[in-house]
Amino acid sequence: MCGIIGYIGRKPVERVLLTGLHRLEYRGYDSAGVATLNGSGGIHVRRVVGRVRDLERHLQQDPVPGTLGIAHTRWATHGRPSEINAHPHLDASGRLALVHNGIIENHDTIRTFLEGQGITFRSETDTEALVQLIGFLYEQTGDLVESVRRALRDVDGTYGIALLCRDAPETLIAARRGSPLLVGIGEDEYLVSSDGSAIIEHTSQVVYLQDGEIAVLGPAGLTITTTDAVPVEAEVSELEMTLEQIELAGFEHHMLKEIYEQPETLRDTMRGRIDAREGRVKLGGLVTCEREIARARRLLLAGCGTAWHAALVGEYLFEELARVPTEVEYASELRYRNPIIDEGTLALVISQSGETADTLAALREMKTKGATVLGVVNVVGSTIARETDAGVYLRVGPEIGVASTKAFTAQIAVLAMLAVDMGRRRHLSPWQTAEVLAELEAIPEKVEQALKLDEQVQDLARQLVDRDNWLYLGRGVNYPVALEGALKLKEISYIHAEGLPAAEMKHGPIALIDKGMPVVVVAPRDHMHDKIVSNIEEIRSRQGRVIAVTTEGDTRLRGLADAVLEVPATLPILSPLVTTIPLQLLAYHCARLRGHDVDKPRNLAKSVTVE
Ligand code: G6P
Repeated sequence: MCGIIGYIGRKPVERVLLTGLHRLEYRGYDSAGVATLNGSGGIHVRRVVGRVRDLERHLQQDPVPGTLGIAHTRWATHGRPSEINAHPHLDASGRLALVHNGIIENHDTIRTFLEGQGITFRSETDTEALVQLIGFLYEQTGDLVESVRRALRDVDGTYGIALLCRDAPETLIAARRGSPLLVGIGEDEYLVSSDGSAIIEHTSQVVYLQDGEIAVLGPAGLTITTTDAVPVEAEVSELEMTLEQIELAGFEHHMLKEIYEQPETLRDTMRGRIDAREGRVKLGGLVTCEREIARARRLLLAGCGTAWHAALVGEYLFEELARVPTEVEYASELRYRNPIIDEGTLALVISQSGETADTLAALREMKTKGATVLGVVNVVGSTIARETDAGVYLRVGPEIGVASTKAFTAQIAVLAMLAVDMGRRRHLSPWQTAEVLAELEAIPEKVEQALKLDEQVQDLARQLVDRDNWLYLGRGVNYPVALEGALKLKEISYIHAEGLPAAEMKHGPIALIDKGMPVVVVAPRDHMHDKIVSNIEEIRSRQGRVIAVTTEGDTRLRGLADAVLEVPATLPILSPLVTTIPLQLLAYHCARLRGHDVDKPRNLAKSVTVE
């Protein structure tokens, strides 16, 4: 939530900050602002309610000077979206400006203390408490960096911050605890950002700040210390990202581009990790935990949103292919419920961003209880990736559309590879293993085929877009696909949709079905096909409108459903990788036809770093 960027160098800072903010906008987009410093000429602040493009318009009328600045795009937590609550926030003296991503939990206590000292607050935000506290300490000590350290030692909660001070016109300060922050090292310039996409056009050399570290950037170089003033050696990494990956490349929206990227991203996810002929899986990131994987007697999977749906697919994969009992938990529930972790438990956390606060907390809770925790993460170097014992990267490149698509299919592919690997160590024969792996390798091409349904799906969306209530049904491994299809529709088209195991319909939700209600039934040919056909009959008897996703050549459903979307045949256990494609397209087209901002749906943010 919230994106922050800071710059110090020789380029005019306004453009650098605006371009960076556009790239970070997926993190929050209810208000935005910048503060720049122009030598000793003082701090220039501009803030607007709305999108980054609104800030850009504002700056065209009223530009900001300088080559040092900070900027922010907000997802409101404390205080409604308003100009006064937008960042950057200033201290009482107006000498300090700060942008913040995270939550200061003890802001009330700090505010009461500072108000007692005669300081007047201007906003309703938790962030202002932090900048006012730094300002108060600076007033007393005259030492800027030490004041930042002391203030950060006093705050509870999470932060990624960037700060500038009128008295130090050649210094930019950044710090983090619990919210992502990296420092980009360019030529005669430094950048600070919530993620790499905002700085990649300037540099690919980055230092990922660790929790409790403060970076001071300026002509003298980069100095990192802890909040206790212990010096830290900067570890420089290379950003694994290209500018091309974060641009639209002719697509109308990132979400559509990302849906279409899936054949390629799935190839990337599996490249070099599968040897179908030898019947072997090689997941390099897991070698250090081979023993734990081989000995696991129970798996515990956790994630949020789409990642949780991938975990549910994982449950079927692990139980069927590896015969290892598997439980799936919402990370937000797991973190507070004292999970039972015994010696044979192997935990797995799934997260596209690698920064989701609940998933991170669940990971820490499981580690505290002694579990080995593996990560299935997309963003390289993210907090979850760093804190897990070992892990597998998705390799799908940056996912920018708030509604997750290519990360979902990659998460399933990784779980499938791991399930085969575990199965092979247990009971799968070489030829059974080879069969599943060969089928996995064929999936990208089948996804390519499934994408050809786009036009048919568009027609369907035109017919159904005005309906306000939908059901999505699936059975077995396609039950999570139904959940994910419903989530996609809700997220971006604001249509109410519910996903269910098909057989549960008769225990209540069937009461919702009336004439013309769209019911999407995920029904590829498998051992439960007959059962799901009966469910379709039940919907038809109540005049619901059935949209069936089934296997190519399934003539039986052609006569039964109002619309049939046929996807290529694959092993039933791998079918979610193809059945999910038309559902992603359906949600996309409904949202587009309703005129919504597909990549930035209301109230949502891509990286949820608050509880
Ligand atoms: C947010 C996003 C979802 C995503 C979930 C988990 O709610 O809007 O699309 O699935 O977070 O994110 P993660 O980065 O942990 O996969």
